[in-house]
Amino acid sequence: MLPRCAFSVCHVLMLVLCLSAAEDFDWTKNDHGSFYYGTFPAGFSWGAGSSAYQTEGAWDKDGKGLSIWDVFSHKKGKIQQNETGDSSCEGYYKVKDDVSLMKELKLNHYRFSISWPRLLPTGIKSDHINEKGMQHYDQLIDHLLENKITPIVTLYHWDLPQVLQEKYGGWQNISMVNHFNEFANLCFERFGNRVKYWITFNNPWSVAVEGYETGEHAPGLKLRGTGAYRAAHHIIKAHAKVWHTYDTQWRAKQKGLVGISLSGDWGEPVDISNQKDIEAAERYVQFYLGWFATPIFHGDYPQVMKDFIGRKSVQQGLGTSRLPTFSPQEKSYIKGTCDFLGVGHFTTRYITQKNNPSSRSSSSYFSDRDLAELVDPRWPDPGSEWLYSVPWGFRRLLNFIKTQYGNPMIYVTENGVSEKMLCTELCDDWRIQYYKDYINEMLKAIKDGVNVKGYTAWSLLDKFEWDEGYSERFGLYYVDFRNKNKPRYPKASVQFYKRIISSNGFPNQREVENWRRKAVETCSSSNQLLAAEEQRSTAANILRLIHDPLTSHMEMVTEIVVPTVCTLSILLSAIFLMFLLRRRN
Ligand code: NOJ
Repeated sequence: MLPRCAFSVCHVLMLVLCLSAAEDFDWTKNDHGSFYYGTFPAGFSWGAGSSAYQTEGAWDKDGKGLSIWDVFSHKKGKIQQNETGDSSCEGYYKVKDDVSLMKELKLNHYRFSISWPRLLPTGIKSDHINEKGMQHYDQLIDHLLENKITPIVTLYHWDLPQVLQEKYGGWQNISMVNHFNEFANLCFERFGNRVKYWITFNNPWSVAVEGYETGEHAPGLKLRGTGAYRAAHHIIKAHAKVWHTYDTQWRAKQKGLVGISLSGDWGEPVDISNQKDIEAAERYVQFYLGWFATPIFHGDYPQVMKDFIGRKSVQQGLGTSRLPTFSPQEKSYIKGTCDFLGVGHFTTRYITQKNNPSSRSSSSYFSDRDLAELVDPRWPDPGSEWLYSVPWGFRRLLNFIKTQYGNPMIYVTENGVSEKMLCTELCDDWRIQYYKDYINEMLKAIKDGVNVKGYTAWSLLDKFEWDEGYSERFGLYYVDFRNKNKPRYPKASVQFYKRIISSNGFPNQREVENWRRKAVETCSSSNQLLAAEEQRSTAANILRLIHDPLTSHMEMVTEIVVPTVCTLSILLSAIFLMFLLRRRN
């Protein structure tokens, strides 16, 4: 995820580079832009997702211990606007309401994660099991099943118990493997009679790179060039151990599946006739998804990672590679520990070869790859700065997985798009477009022979978006975070996704266009509802400020004066601009 300024420079370069390359693709060439009408295989599972820290709130309630995200988000300057997940969507208290939303969507499955410190406050099973936390997930699982919604449960969506971070250094320490295994085993024991789909880790790439290399995420460590590789090494071992635990102790009785959810952007060579760009693009994907998938499917890291990191380590005067190695026993223990592969995918990059200096001081995961990431300025980017809508990249990534890892069973565990906080627009036509095109590319991939069994829209609700706080909204449902009750409102994309689900795909052009029109029509009434509700809560806030003598001056400034002044300034600038333009004409 490059900063915006870097992308601006890239934009200019891209105009020159990509215009010559973009028209000329190989096996999907004729499908560019063409929509495929058809349906998904019978039994295809449609879902939506969430994660514990992002939605639950109740961060210190009912005996829950602290997670690294509780601690990280409370430090000043780590999260946009210093926001936290303390209350977030209050999902902890809204199990029934949220399951009703899923029913409304007619979901087949719901993907959520279990908060480790909610079950084990110190992270260590022998210390204490928090029964209230157990009850919460019992209730959620039971309620889903009563409503015929299959739970897909992630064991680790980034919220490591803080005690384990402080005592051992978190994923830098090999002891996490056993602690995580104990936690997973407890979940299998208590919930495995009802949960049949387990995901060990969500997006370990982010845990390793953003948690231990760049420090943008909890625990915020900047151990450049080594921290991410070490964290990933332990995560891969922990995943394998948990898979074996399930395989030997629970599978026969519970008959479930254990997988991992890996994230991967697609990397497309800038110039497809340039061998160096082709290799750089392959390297980009191998350093991303391949870093975790290759050991899990083939027993060891991708050869290209071993070569590049090994060579650079030698140049840096190190005796051994910064990429740790697996022993022969570990390789065979890790290989094949995946009943299904979860895939989280959002976006694509153009990739070109770029040699990075290999001095010891500049060593990092990013410089090890010897490549540059570029984007096409024509790609839509409605929300997060890193998220460009490039549907065709999805089909390519899925085909890559099929050929590289022996066509494994795939569940798409995350796919979706955000919008900026300022946009309180429920008529999210551009999100409809994103889902329509990405889901269509997934359908094409299935026709190519990729074994995709299910799709999870990310996310069910707007929620805490890690270091971006609440500034980016991924939800199908809008959440009014300013209101204490955190009410949910359906965006237009709810209506559209619901139609895809009930038709199990895209029947024909006329119908699909009709869905879209209707979705946008119905959302305008929800929009009015939301606007009225927002006016009401602003008025209530003003009254509160007037009546409460203790209300601070600061609150008045941030809640009323700043927005009013901003709106007025924008209006005045617009009038001034119009005036200037008129004078010119
Ligand atoms: C991947 C993460 O798993 C998820 O928690 C996050 O919301 C999305 N990326 C979007 O940034």
